[in-house]
Amino acid sequence: EGWRIEVVDEIDSTNEEWKRRQPGHGRVLVALKQSAGRGRRGNVWLSEPGVGLTFSVALRPSEPKGMWPRLALATGLAVAEALGKLGIEAEVKWPNDVLLGGKKVCGVLVEAVGEVAVIGIGLNVNAVDLPEGLEATSLRIVAGREFEVTEVLGLILDRLKSRTGQIGADFPELVARLRERCFLSGKRVRLKSPSGPTEGVVQGIGDGGELLLQTAEGLQRLLQADEVRAVE
Ligand code: BTN
Repeated sequence: EGWRIEVVDEIDSTNEEWKRRQPGHGRVLVALKQSAGRGRRGNVWLSEPGVGLTFSVALRPSEPKGMWPRLALATGLAVAEALGKLGIEAEVKWPNDVLLGGKKVCGVLVEAVGEVAVIGIGLNVNAVDLPEGLEATSLRIVAGREFEVTEVLGLILDRLKSRTGQIGADFPELVARLRERCFLSGKRVRLKSPSGPTEGVVQGIGDGGELLLQTAEGLQRLLQADEVRAVE
């Protein structure tokens, strides 16, 4: 079975709509415009019609909920691979951003309601000027040409099908591909984890998809973290 795609002119947030409607597995909602697009940590996600790609995918994973955080990694990798098909080399910044040349081009917001995992994706496609100080970029800025938003969507959905199917037994293959695109590897970072702020050097990604961080207190394995920032 494939995806079932619905396009709306305007909505508050595609993630919010899928959380309200809790649709079946494989349903995709694309919004030309979001009036209240959200990022992680309560940030806003801004996007203009034809310039940005904003959509949410509803999945009903058969894997236990403890494995659902892996969907963010699967999605970041799928987006990076889709961009590769357009000749653009992308990196994944653990746990859920996609970067081009160190700047953010795509954000992923995974939320769960009941049996539904909602995967929200925001991608800067044709933007030429992005707000200062955001450390953000777009496909157009990097490639020097415009892209058809629906073509990019199709490429992402193609990759998303196989990658989101790998959060269970096939996860090692996903992790192997992720390691090849890991932006943070070898970098010194500062971050907020559930157990407090930490600083260390990233050793890579563990077999469970966790961030391996060498700190003064020893090697930490982080399953989740907010605001991972590379420092000097
Ligand atoms: C982040 O980088 O903090 C995550 C950004 C996620 C943005 C997407 S756009 C489609 C979906 N709907 C939302 O309101 N947010 C996600």
